[in-house]
Amino acid sequence: MIIHGNAESRMNMKIAVAGTGYVGLSVALLLSQHNEVHALDIVPEKVELLNHAKSPIVDREITDFLDENADGRRPLNFQATLDAAQAYTDADYAVVATPTNYDPKKNYFDTSSVEAAIEAVREHAPHAWIVIKSTIPVGYTAQIRERFHDDRILFSPEFLREGHALYDNLHPSRIVVGAPQDDPAAVEAAHVFADLLAHGADPAEKDRVNPDGSHGIPQLVVGLTEAEAIKLFANTYLALRVAYFNELDTYAESRDLNTKAIIDGVCLDPRIRNDYNNPSFGYGGYCLPKDTKQLLANYDQVPQNLIGAIVDANRTRKDFIADEILERVAGKEHPVVGIYRLTMKSGSDNFRQSAIQGVMKRIKAKGVTVVVYEPTLDKPDFFGSKVTHDLTAFKQEADVIVANRWNDDLADAGEKVFTRDLFRRD
Ligand SMILES: NC(=O)c1ccc[n+]([C@@H]2O[C@H](COP(=O)([O-])OP(=O)(O)OC[C@H]3O[C@@H](n4cnc5c(N)ncnc54)[C@H](O)[C@@H]3O)[C@@H](O)[C@H]2O)c1
Repeated sequence: MIIHGNAESRMNMKIAVAGTGYVGLSVALLLSQHNEVHALDIVPEKVELLNHAKSPIVDREITDFLDENADGRRPLNFQATLDAAQAYTDADYAVVATPTNYDPKKNYFDTSSVEAAIEAVREHAPHAWIVIKSTIPVGYTAQIRERFHDDRILFSPEFLREGHALYDNLHPSRIVVGAPQDDPAAVEAAHVFADLLAHGADPAEKDRVNPDGSHGIPQLVVGLTEAEAIKLFANTYLALRVAYFNELDTYAESRDLNTKAIIDGVCLDPRIRNDYNNPSFGYGGYCLPKDTKQLLANYDQVPQNLIGAIVDANRTRKDFIADEILERVAGKEHPVVGIYRLTMKSGSDNFRQSAIQGVMKRIKAKGVTVVVYEPTLDKPDFFGSKVTHDLTAFKQEADVIVANRWNDDLADAGEKVFTRDLFRRD
């Protein structure tokens, strides 16, 4: 039973979370500070780890929360399970945080795991409010409400960064929940969910001053489709910014100019800001490549130039980087290119859709041997290329060492290193 306007009523709810990845696990732990949370996954190893207070992903705050809960310093009401009935039955809210990979054949997100989760919630908890946290195409929630004849489905975009998943939920830039604006019950449920997230955030966030002078965490309850658009347009803006500074770097490299000097000068303008401007091999990670492509697909029949250009720019950048690397080994009889880490960012163990993999594919297509140094990968090879954990041997074997992000490990490799990490930050 949800009563609006009473902070106490926003605690001690039963909340189910489908998916214990970056999004699901961070939201589940956040909410488990004040509610009974059951986190459901379909991978037994993840559930097993969580029920032994171990995180299946690398994330400092998640690890700390689990450790502190295990030794009694931080009481959490959290349980991981494989049992849909246990997770969903009598839930007030069910949060869906399952994958939505981009399907290149359909040119659209594959939303089947979201639908499977919604069906399971409906079966066990027909009165629960379902909040989709997975990133979905613009217009999806309205369609799914119609398809399931269900007006209890909401959407709340997630803005976390991998590696800082729980931190970003404890210190959220904003909380957005989408609900049909002409449905008072849904709007009410959206406000309650926004309050649940805000209540789980670091208490100091209540007093923070935002750039516009307002205090506390901005909470927006907007239309369903607008909330979906906020997510895809936000990520596409981030991709645009990465692509912009990468293309600046491509220009400077091609004309023998000092990229760093140009970026420093450009970014002293406070409207441009001196952050998120470090050149790389391309934007990557799980979300930006797929979210930009999905937004472009959503533009079907709508005029645009920029969104398509952002998607194309990432391809062009990887072509340029691959050519730069190939130039460095030109003339060698059996060149070996060393890939230093498959990860996108330093301090991460995740290499889903990392830009360096696109570069690696291009180099291999030219017949160059590639060897990979990736200490978190416990396999002898990666797409046919040898994987090593021996950094010294790796440095000796490679003619060129390619690093999307610099690490002091490479300091003694001298001229062999090729990176565009000019500012030594993510
Ligand atoms: N990773 C990010 O930085 C990030 C940020 C914002 C939004 N998102 C979006 O959130 C969604 C999830 O992303 P993620 O990175 O957490 O994914 P993830 O792959 O890390 O985790 C998803 C989890 O869902 C589980 N799962 C799959 N089907 C299930 C089902 N039917 N029932 C229960 N569990 C199921 C998987 O086993 C997996 O553990 C995606 O749509 C993604 O685009 C991700």
